[in-house]
Amino acid sequence: MLTTTIFTLLLLNVPQAISFSALPVVPVSPSGAGQNPNTVSKIGILTSGGDCPSLNACIRAILKTADSKDVQVFGLPLGFPGLIQDPPEVFQLDDTYASTTMLTKGGSRLGGSVGSDYKLIDSLSLEEKAFRISSALETLEIDGIIATGGDTSMNLIAQMLQCAGGGIPFIGIPKSIDNDIPSTIYSLGFQSAVAGAANSIAAVRDTAESHRRVIVVECMGREAGFLTLHAGIAGGADAILLPEFPVNNEELLNHIQAIYKKNKCAVVAVSEAISLPTSGEMSKYTTADGKTRLGGSAEAIARFISESLQLDARHVVLGHTQRGGSPNAFDQVMATTLGAHAVNAICGGQTEVMMSWNGTHVEAIPLDKVRNVASKSLSPDYPELIAAQSMGIYCGSSL
Ligand code: F6P
Repeated sequence: MLTTTIFTLLLLNVPQAISFSALPVVPVSPSGAGQNPNTVSKIGILTSGGDCPSLNACIRAILKTADSKDVQVFGLPLGFPGLIQDPPEVFQLDDTYASTTMLTKGGSRLGGSVGSDYKLIDSLSLEEKAFRISSALETLEIDGIIATGGDTSMNLIAQMLQCAGGGIPFIGIPKSIDNDIPSTIYSLGFQSAVAGAANSIAAVRDTAESHRRVIVVECMGREAGFLTLHAGIAGGADAILLPEFPVNNEELLNHIQAIYKKNKCAVVAVSEAISLPTSGEMSKYTTADGKTRLGGSAEAIARFISESLQLDARHVVLGHTQRGGSPNAFDQVMATTLGAHAVNAICGGQTEVMMSWNGTHVEAIPLDKVRNVASKSLSPDYPELIAAQSMGIYCGSSL
């Protein structure tokens, strides 16, 4: 049972002026372990944007590392919007957040901010947001913030921090099943989502074989094809359709026909954001509150194949199953590593950096590298793409 004590604190006197004291930037080094030269005593953590596997493993690492440096950790369940609402919502993380069960628990125990939480914050200018956040941190005596976030969150936070002129000590940790955050090879949640989606793709082959069907499986990933490509390869898909490489209708149909002739079934992995063969448009709609929702590509591709080739074609949308569930070991290790390094970094005086995983070590990337920078996407020389194409898996037209 959660024994979390939630207490809300009223912002009584909003200071008229904020004194910004930029912290010196120092390189990330293993010697950061155990040190707290800047005598940081309280940090706030938030998990911004949509959830993904391994956020709880990251929270655990942050809490345990902070604890070893006598730093208290406060959760911001509504993210930055919750910090500047009146009264702000913050609570001190208790020992249950350091439990080993956090390593495998899916979702985020802190909760990710959703659109409606941003109503107040959206109406404010960047300067006003920065001012209110600085004021709230000062009032709450929080010395800095560690936040997990995707490309949109990280970019917005980076813009807001720029307006604060160095006044908000901040360390970001990249998370996204889409893996589209620039300047990091992998982001938290990606490998777990790949593993889950790959299992599903492999599973539908059994039933596709039994019933001599084509089954089209839709993966998330927004306008980046990393998740679909990796899951398609690991799940043994016959064709992998990606947003970056348009489908050539004739090539796709010829490929499916040839595979079907040989195997009496075919499995296709498709990204939610491909341009559809029939319309050339992405399948999407806008919600009442103005959000773009992607999806429907698998149904459209299955119908296209069925009608064009007179085959029995079905579709599956993996949807939020890719966001939930336990992280795999890779993500548990990466979340733990980035979480611990983030605490070392903030206690070592670093600020406005994102802890990036580059395959062999952790780098502190200045937020300039994500501020107003386009999301990462697949390029024709991506090694896994070349491998798939080399094996005869249809991955769209690379023209
Ligand atoms: O960015 C992560 C992601 O899961 C995308 O892959 C997907 O398009 C989107 O979020 C779904 O968001 P929501 O849960 O708001 O529908």
